Amino acid sequence: MPVGGEDYRIVHPEAAEALIDEADFERDERLPYWADLWPSAIALAGRLAAEDLRGVRAIELGCGVGLPSVVALKRGAEVLATDHYRAALDFAAYNARINTAKRLPTALLDWHAHDLRGFLGRFELVFAADVLYERRHAEALARLVPRLLEPGGAALVADPGREGCAAFLAVMRRSGFRVESERREVWLSGRRSVGVYVHRISR
Ligand SMILES: C[S@@+](CC[C@H](N)C(=O)[O-])C[C@H]1O[C@@H](n2cnc3c(N)ncnc32)[C@H](O)[C@@H]1O
Repeated sequence: MPVGGEDYRIVHPEAAEALIDEADFERDERLPYWADLWPSAIALAGRLAAEDLRGVRAIELGCGVGLPSVVALKRGAEVLATDHYRAALDFAAYNARINTAKRLPTALLDWHAHDLRGFLGRFELVFAADVLYERRHAEALARLVPRLLEPGGAALVADPGREGCAAFLAVMRRSGFRVESERREVWLSGRRSVGVYVHRISR
């Protein structure tokens, strides 16, 4: 995967569908979307590759196999990669090791969890790719993101135009945040491309 002039090797399961677990779905409707590398992750990684992140305390939400975290780590950020699937964290940590030779700290973090001790107010940068595909995610993330940020911090959210994203951005604006949006074209195999918006959200 070429990002910002460098090639990254991202390992992920061959078929996400093979990982569907009915018990998981019954519990909280979770599906193993983490196992694919989504165009939004590629767009977000491209944006992070263009930033000087030396020493920046950052957290990725819904990291999946972790390309944006890996790029941020390479750019010098202190990144914590999070997801609600343990297997996603294992893949993200592995991908960091093979691309940067650095250790990527990871943590299980469910956006709907009540106990967020250890996470709150700690981060200068929160980033996430394609996490707003359900309306209930918009509400949870609009509550969570401001609580994770330290004063003066910012969030980068990459999204291909999902319904939940508009709802999320509307709440953030109502809470006094400024949103600047950039459209990036992500080229996929077969000469197809997808437009992805990278939204920067700050006070
Ligand atoms: C569409 S995938 C995107 C994965 C990765 N960010 C990418 O763009 O390639 C959505 C990600 O959000 C995670 N996720 C969904 N609901 C979550 C929740 N309630 N708490 C934490 N992570 C969640 C999934 O496990 C998955 O990794």
